[in-house]
Amino acid sequence: MIPGIFITGTGTGVGKTVTTAGVLRWLRKRSINAIAMKPVQTGAVTASDGRMLAPDAEFALRAASLDVDAATWAHISPYLFPPACSPHLAARLTGRPITIANIMQSAHWLAARHDLLVVEGAGGLMAPLNEDQTMLDLAGALAMPVLLVGPSGLGVINHVLLSLEALRQRSREVMGVILNDAQPVPESERYICEDNVRTIEWFGHIRVLARVPYLGHHPDLSQLDASLAHCNFLPGYAPPAGAHRQSAGGRQ
Ligand SMILES: Nc1ncnc2c1ncn2[C@@H]1O[C@H](COP(=O)(O)OP(=O)(O)OP(=O)(O)O)[C@@H](O)[C@H]1O
Ligand SMILES: [Mg+2]
Repeated sequence: MIPGIFITGTGTGVGKTVTTAGVLRWLRKRSINAIAMKPVQTGAVTASDGRMLAPDAEFALRAASLDVDAATWAHISPYLFPPACSPHLAARLTGRPITIANIMQSAHWLAARHDLLVVEGAGGLMAPLNEDQTMLDLAGALAMPVLLVGPSGLGVINHVLLSLEALRQRSREVMGVILNDAQPVPESERYICEDNVRTIEWFGHIRVLARVPYLGHHPDLSQLDASLAHCNFLPGYAPPAGAHRQSAGGRQ
């Protein structure tokens, strides 16, 4: 088994990368030699030297002040696709099919050199990788505990609960949920966000581990750290049974 955390989301643009950066910083601050992995990056960009870059892994590694060599990069993002679309479509458009076996090879390569991998999925769990497999199949192959990220506002209850159903149907261990404010939350919608925490914990039988506030246009990493400071991302840590019912957000 590869030690790691699989970070998925209720969809695209919900804060998986910001969370990956926060988790990586959290682990590295505790002297764990963790590294980020973004196995499938669509919307990859080409640098002036012709090198293709994975913006998500770049962001996470930069946030954690981690410099890596070219060989490591090749395994951090084995699939880099310029089209900014679903992995299966980007793979088809560029004529480079995605295989989970290839991703697993890269994961093993990284795991041989690091204590723990923080793996960011692409899109949500049902985002297709090819004609037969989705992100959920990759989560199954990696067999890592899953952290589920969603936006904090209206609509997230349904998306989180459906994602949890899918994960549990495949017997995936879910560490918890992170609710993220990718945009500033208007004062008039605060009551929705506050209730979302309680309602997700109650119906989902899960802990909302943290709420990441809006961090500004250039994300304020110290604020990100503060929002995750009380969490425990150590391998093997599981919140006590029933903890979601007693947590700050839980129904009394
Ligand atoms: N808490 C936050 N504060 C400020 N900006 C945020 C926050 N969360 C996300 N963003 C911004 O919103 C955008 C989407 O966030 P992010 O890239 O983390 O989403 P994602 O789920 O990783 O998306 P993708 O599916 O493309 O990988 C980014 O520009 C990011 O900087
Ligand atoms: Mg991302």
